[in-house]
Amino acid sequence: MTGVKLAPSILAADFARLADEIAAVEEAGAHWIHVDVMDGHFVPNITVGPVVVEAVRRVTALPLDVHLMVEKPDRHIDRFVGAGADRVTVHQETCPHLHRTLDHISRLGASPGVAINPSTPVHSLVEVIPYLDLLLVMTVNPGFGGQAFIPTSTAKVLRARDLLRERGGASVELQVDGGVDVGTTPSLVEAGASVLVAGSAIFRHPEGAREGLRALREAVAATPPGAPLNR
Ligand code: DX5
Ligand code: ZN
Repeated sequence: MTGVKLAPSILAADFARLADEIAAVEEAGAHWIHVDVMDGHFVPNITVGPVVVEAVRRVTALPLDVHLMVEKPDRHIDRFVGAGADRVTVHQETCPHLHRTLDHISRLGASPGVAINPSTPVHSLVEVIPYLDLLLVMTVNPGFGGQAFIPTSTAKVLRARDLLRERGGASVELQVDGGVDVGTTPSLVEAGASVLVAGSAIFRHPEGAREGLRALREAVAATPPGAPLNR
């Protein structure tokens, strides 16, 4: 087994049975719970806010990985951390003062992350690498679960892994999100991804979330991680 972590996205879960869905993936070996926050402005969809983070906090001890797909995220970060977020990821495209935002997340005691859309280059983050705990390479355009993986994303993950290594960010988590399933997992792990977010592949698995998570774990275990480190 590699050190690659799995972060089920509850966006694809049955919200009427959210506690049971979370218990299932926790028992099956999930590492983090990924919560997708969408505002209907930065992305077309609207999902959940701090109230749901607070509810999820009460039913799991796993780290809560909150992905903010919202305009002006600085207005909301305190409330999400107050609700129990362990990790807060903002989008580069929404933060004109990104260094300040990351510093603020750290000062609140949470782990700061930055996400980049498919059209945003990895080198746009070069100046903030020392302040990052996590870099999220979006492998779909954010806004909805169940979208098709963008094939050029794998090479982008490789470039992100190389950039992190070159710029003193070897310990920064490299997360991927969107269209992650047993088919895309091997190349993502080989490219150096260290945290896989998956919604549909886990919660919409025909045999249930436990089986979905187990299948992804197997795909990870069968793949040599971080091949670029050995080039
Ligand atoms: C997309 C979200 C993802 C989404 C992934 O905007 O950030 O976390 O839930 O869903 P799947 O795994 O179904 O692509
Ligand atoms: Zn997400």
